[in-house]
Amino acid sequence: MLVEGKNICYSYAFGGFSFALRDVDLNIARGEFVAILGCNGSGKSTLVKHLNALLQLQQGELKVAQIDVRNEKEVWLLRRRCGMVFQNPDHQFVAPVVEEDIAFGLENYEVPRNEISGRVRSALARVEMSGYEKRAPNTLSGGQKQRVALAGVLALDPEIIIFDEATAMLDPDGRQEVIKIMEKLHRAGKTIIAITHYVEEAVAADKIILMHQGRVLACGSPQTVLTNLDLMKEAELIPPFPVRLYYDLQQAGIYLNRCPLTEEELVEEICQFKSKI
Ligand SMILES: Nc1ncnc2c1ncn2[C@@H]1O[C@H](COP(=O)(O)OP(=O)(O)OP(=O)(O)O)[C@@H](O)[C@H]1O
Ligand SMILES: [Mg+2]
Repeated sequence: MLVEGKNICYSYAFGGFSFALRDVDLNIARGEFVAILGCNGSGKSTLVKHLNALLQLQQGELKVAQIDVRNEKEVWLLRRRCGMVFQNPDHQFVAPVVEEDIAFGLENYEVPRNEISGRVRSALARVEMSGYEKRAPNTLSGGQKQRVALAGVLALDPEIIIFDEATAMLDPDGRQEVIKIMEKLHRAGKTIIAITHYVEEAVAADKIILMHQGRVLACGSPQTVLTNLDLMKEAELIPPFPVRLYYDLQQAGIYLNRCPLTEEELVEEICQFKSKI
C-alpha cells in the first residue's frame, strides 16, 4: 500500500473532547484514483493534511510511500512525494511571474540549476499552459491559475497528488479542465486523491472514502457507495441525479436493470428498458 493509516484520531484542541478525526483507517494503493467525499466539516482536509505532515499525527499510525509521517527528518522527502493543490489558487503563488513561481519550488528542493527551466516547461505543458511562462499569476483566469498551481506540484514529480477541493472555486469549464488533467495524470500512473463534496466528481474514482463527523462511513466503489440511499443520507449528501431518478422510477413501478451513476448510463438503462416493452 502506498498510503497506510490506522486508527488516526485528531483533535484541534489537543487533549480536548471534540475530535475532527476519529479512528480513521486509510488504505490507498499505488496508481489508485481515490475520492474523499463528505459534507462540510466532515474531516476531509484534516485527514489529507496528515499525509504530507501539514498536521502532526496525534494518535494512530500513518505511512506514506513507506515514510512514517512522524519522522520529522523525512518531512521534506514526504512533501516531495506527496504534492497538494488547494481550493484557492491565489494562496499558492509565491512569485510574480509564472515560471519563477514554479522554479521556486524546484530551487527549494535543490534541483540542479540546469534542470530547472526544462522542468518548468514540461510541467506547464502537462497542464496545457505552455506559452504562459512570463505571465503574472494574477492576470490568469481561475482555471488557468489552478493549472499553474498544479504545474508547480508536478514539476517536483510527486507520486501522490492531492486535490483539496481544487475545483470548488472554478466555473463549470474551469472545473472540467482540472478534472480532465486529474484523469490524465491518473492514466499516466499517478496516485490521485481528490477531495470533494460534489458527488458527481466522485463518480469517476476507483474508490470512494465517504466521511462524516470525522469518521469513515464507507469505503468502496462509486457503485456501492453512491447508490446506497441510507448511506448517502447518513453522510448528509444528495445522491447523483441518475441515482435519484432510478429510485423515483421504482416508486412509480418502473424497474431499470441497474442503478446508473451518470447521465450516459441513465440513457442506456432507459433504452434497454424501452426495448424490452
Ligand atoms: N484550524 C482549526 N481549528 C479548530 N478546528 C478546526 C480547524 N480546522 C478545522 N476544524 C474543525 O475540524 C472539523 C473538520 O474540519 P475539516 O476542515 O477537516 O472538514 P472538511 O471536511 O475539509 O470541510 P469542508 O468541506 O468545509 O472543507 C470541523 O468541525 C472544523 O470545524
Ligand atoms: Mg476542507
